[in-house]
Amino acid sequence: MKENTIVKTDRVLSGMRTTGALHLGHYHGVLKNWLKLQTQYECYFFAADWHALTTHYEQPGLIKTHTREMIIDWLAVGIDPQQACIFVQSDVSEHAELHLLLSMITPVGWLERVPTYKDQQQNLKDKALDTYGFLGYPVLQCADILSYQAKWVPVGEDQVSHLEVAREIIRRVNFLYHTTLPEPQPLLTETAKLPGLDGRKMSKSYHNVIGLRESAESITQKIKTMPTDPARVKRSDPGDPEKCPVWNLHKIYSDTATKEWVNSGCRSAGIGCLDCKKAVITEVLLEQAPIIEKAAQLSADPDYVNDVMAQGCKRAKIQARKTLDIVKTAMGL
Ligand code: TRP
Ligand code: SF4
Repeated sequence: MKENTIVKTDRVLSGMRTTGALHLGHYHGVLKNWLKLQTQYECYFFAADWHALTTHYEQPGLIKTHTREMIIDWLAVGIDPQQACIFVQSDVSEHAELHLLLSMITPVGWLERVPTYKDQQQNLKDKALDTYGFLGYPVLQCADILSYQAKWVPVGEDQVSHLEVAREIIRRVNFLYHTTLPEPQPLLTETAKLPGLDGRKMSKSYHNVIGLRESAESITQKIKTMPTDPARVKRSDPGDPEKCPVWNLHKIYSDTATKEWVNSGCRSAGIGCLDCKKAVITEVLLEQAPIIEKAAQLSADPDYVNDVMAQGCKRAKIQARKTLDIVKTAMGL
């Protein structure tokens, strides 16, 4: 692979936890945005395998596979290692050292007040989330961001509180040690969100996902059996797309003419739900086919994928080392 020549100035960093196969929610909600960002900014995208361990510490056998499959997903949708730096968090141990240094000046109260801390403990009752590592999740995230002195961090709403803590920690470093490290800002995603099969947020824990690389048969089956507007009991009952999760898919996948066809056909009972679903199935499969094909090529070429991760790690380390040196020196080490 040829060396990278990035001239884009503002730096963007984002990470994804390696907790399992990606779904279409990730694609439409996150990756499509990354595709745009990689052309506009100097981007660092990493697989957050240490963050995965904060909740998935009991499945050490899966982390490496998930990491690799996630990098393949990214490459398959078009994240370009010639533009963005793609790496694995645990390959850049500088994050861990910076995390340790930051932990010295982070009050525990700040971390206990982060809403996701208590929420997750309540939601994931089967997991012991009373660990030191889980409490420190935002400190590690701050180290991820600060390592690259990233100005922008594309994240969803759920991560805004983590970014606030990151900014507070960095402000405290700057105050205590007279450094001028940049405070990162959230870059909220503009891309349309794709809800799950039941209309709720697409999430593995809700069992309502369409996998990015799921088979055509399985996707067809899942969409065919999606719930629709409950008012349409019989084929002759008119419906309201706004009350139907299938409409969410049309909003993302269908052109104006098709959406018009759905809207009037649903309201007048002119079309059946199966016709309506078939139109969306066609589009989902069309979008997905080249991704599956590219992913298969990448899976058959492990050397290439290894090379992407190795090159990314090398580039990332150079930046992370620079920042670590600044903070170490500032803290008198
Ligand atoms: N916490 C993020 C999530 O769950 C993942 C993540 C880890 C991250 N470190 C990051 C995102 C740094 C942005 C920047 O989605
Ligand atoms: Fe939903 Fe389409 Fe059926 Fe209307 S016709 S209820 S939008 S599936």
